Amino acid sequence: MLEIKGIHKTFFPETPNQVRALRGVDLQIDPGSWVNVIGTNGSGKSTLLNAVAGAFRLDQGKILLDGHDITNWPEHRRAKLIGRVFQDPFSGTAPSMTIAENLALAARRGKFRGLGFALKSKWRDELRDRVAAMGLGLEDKIDKPMDTLSGGQRQSITLLMAGLVRPALLLLDEHTAALDPKSADKIIQLTETFISEHRLTTIMVTHSMDQAANFGDRVVMMHRGAIRHDISGLAKHRLRAADLISKFDEIRRSDLLDESAAEMLRSQYV
Ligand SMILES: Nc1ncnc2c1ncn2[C@@H]1O[C@H](COP(=O)(O)OP(=O)(O)OP(=O)(O)O)[C@@H](O)[C@H]1O
Ligand SMILES: [Mg+2]
Repeated sequence: MLEIKGIHKTFFPETPNQVRALRGVDLQIDPGSWVNVIGTNGSGKSTLLNAVAGAFRLDQGKILLDGHDITNWPEHRRAKLIGRVFQDPFSGTAPSMTIAENLALAARRGKFRGLGFALKSKWRDELRDRVAAMGLGLEDKIDKPMDTLSGGQRQSITLLMAGLVRPALLLLDEHTAALDPKSADKIIQLTETFISEHRLTTIMVTHSMDQAANFGDRVVMMHRGAIRHDISGLAKHRLRAADLISKFDEIRRSDLLDESAAEMLRSQYV
């Protein structure tokens, strides 16, 4: 269970560049639940994930994961509980190391044993089986460096790495956005299989309304650092991409109204 309680984060406070990126976000996620986070550029989606992963200190609020108050834990300590996949297929892995070495590193997450140990034959067989199970034919490439793989192949390995030691929480930040449509499709299918097989608690950020509507148990829409819509249960089950697009239109209209009201007020006082 993940509990995010009233978190606030302002970057560059009290300067002309001040950004109020998170303005009181509350979110409780049940174990095994998959929440999609959508929202316009700059609405605070990545900041929310970074807050959970421990990339910076919060100004206010608390984060609890599986009963641990992780609010003041450093990022590396949280990494033992949290798996992450980013948008960039080139981040999160060691490009010149082989697939097997990268997987071995991920498998040893948080433990201080040499790499050699992890690459002993028993382990190699298990890693090869895990790679084969993804059905991408990458099992014959486990001794090739990561940087010889395509973006889609890399993302599949990164996904496998994130879940190799079952994480208490999986964070996916637009992990299919940099891929061509066919690879993106493959990776999202793989993601679904992976999450349901291991019953992972997941937050996935996406700009794809189809992904948001068709996958997961819940959709949260962020706007200006806060949650504006939270759709779950039957409403989520019935949700279509078009419904989400109209929610974006509603927000855009209310922003325009706010702007014109502000403009009117300004014109009255000058
Ligand atoms: N480390 C940082 N330092 C300063 N400002 C930041 C930092 N991280 C995010 N911001 C700012 O906070 C706001 C929210 O950014 P965030 O990256 O969370 O948006 P997002 O919803 O993920 O957008 P996108 O869809 O473009 O990825 C933006 O105005 C951004 O410039
Ligand atoms: Mg982002």
